[in-house]
Amino acid sequence: MAPSTQKALLLTKKYGDLVISEIAVPKPGSGEVLIKLKATSLNPVDWKIQKLGFFLEEFPAILGTDLAGDIEEVGEGVTDFRKGDKVFTQGQFINVNASFQEYALALASTLAKIPPNISYDEASTFPVAINVVYVGLYNVHPYGLGFTPPISASTRGIYAGTPLVVLGGATSVGQNAIQLAKISGFSPIITTASLKNTEHLQSIGATAVLDRSLSTTELTNQIAKITTAPIKAVFDTVSSDSTQQTGVDILASGGKLAVVLPPTAKVPQDKSLVHSLGLLRAPPNVGLLETFYHDLISDFIEKGWLKPNNIEVLPNGLAAIPSGLDKMQSDTFSKLKLVVHPDETP
Ligand SMILES: NC(=O)c1ccc[n+]([C@@H]2O[C@H](COP(=O)([O-])OP(=O)(O)OC[C@H]3O[C@@H](n4cnc5c(N)ncnc54)[C@H](OP(=O)(O)O)[C@@H]3O)[C@@H](O)[C@H]2O)c1
Repeated sequence: MAPSTQKALLLTKKYGDLVISEIAVPKPGSGEVLIKLKATSLNPVDWKIQKLGFFLEEFPAILGTDLAGDIEEVGEGVTDFRKGDKVFTQGQFINVNASFQEYALALASTLAKIPPNISYDEASTFPVAINVVYVGLYNVHPYGLGFTPPISASTRGIYAGTPLVVLGGATSVGQNAIQLAKISGFSPIITTASLKNTEHLQSIGATAVLDRSLSTTELTNQIAKITTAPIKAVFDTVSSDSTQQTGVDILASGGKLAVVLPPTAKVPQDKSLVHSLGLLRAPPNVGLLETFYHDLISDFIEKGWLKPNNIEVLPNGLAAIPSGLDKMQSDTFSKLKLVVHPDETP
């Protein structure tokens, strides 16, 4: 039985402080479950909401959307899951569905079971950082690049001979882009990163890792040494002004770039750009991502096709989140997901 109140980290107002408060534990409605969180991971969007003031207009607000935990209670009509199941999902920036708290509601249709080969902490690293890739690769234009999703044996491995360039392979998003690209068979998979990350990125599927500091001309020349096939698809997981423009410039005519932040690049008429939003409940994504969660992601993880990013668990639960969000803003933050256990909040 869930308690009536819980600890939550509240953003008190726009640009405000993050403060631990005692709030009510919500009740699951029809089709929903109540999850007792064991782990939540931090994402760049969480500090951007607090520091840059975008996305949310109602306060106090609860941030955080990556969650893993145990089902505490099921609502009416939920048949696929029961109390005690270990699950993970992407929450929403709606207070009852957010993850910087001890208990959250989620729609049963958006849940995936945690496979036995990963922990709650590792499961919590996936949702936000993989949803944006799944949408960006497999949703239709203008939400994604329009590739066929790897939903069955006959649609996996089908892009052999089609190159994919992933700008920023060591980001959490980039590691998932490399791994999904490998499942889909793209070859070669060429990525940019700090070269210290080469071995790791090759181990998860990159064919070649090129220095992230190369100029666009140098990058184009290096890519031409790896493949003579035209570059028709680039996934920019960094999406700064400069990486977006590089992404456009290295495309062959007719090529498409997916970005994960608002578009800033100048795109000539013979190329196109899509802005991928990894929100599980955004209407254009719902069917695609519900299938991914219900049928695929746990299996892909159990088979070892999707591996979690490195993790660092911060002590003191929700109380560690403000300093964790500060830490993420440094460019020395590399190949790492910060995780907290909400139930360890003092
Ligand atoms: N649209 C959406 O739905 C959505 C969803 C998730 C994330 N995002 C956005 O996606 C971006 C990445 O998020 P994340 O959580 O994956 O980030 P992250 O893991 O915190 O990114 C850190 C990594 O960025 C890499 N990096 C920084 N500048 C680079 C550059 N110029 N070239 C290549 N690599 C570079 C570094 O790689 P090295 O260690 O190799 O130097 C570092 O490992 C963020 O801006 C985030 O807000 C958007």
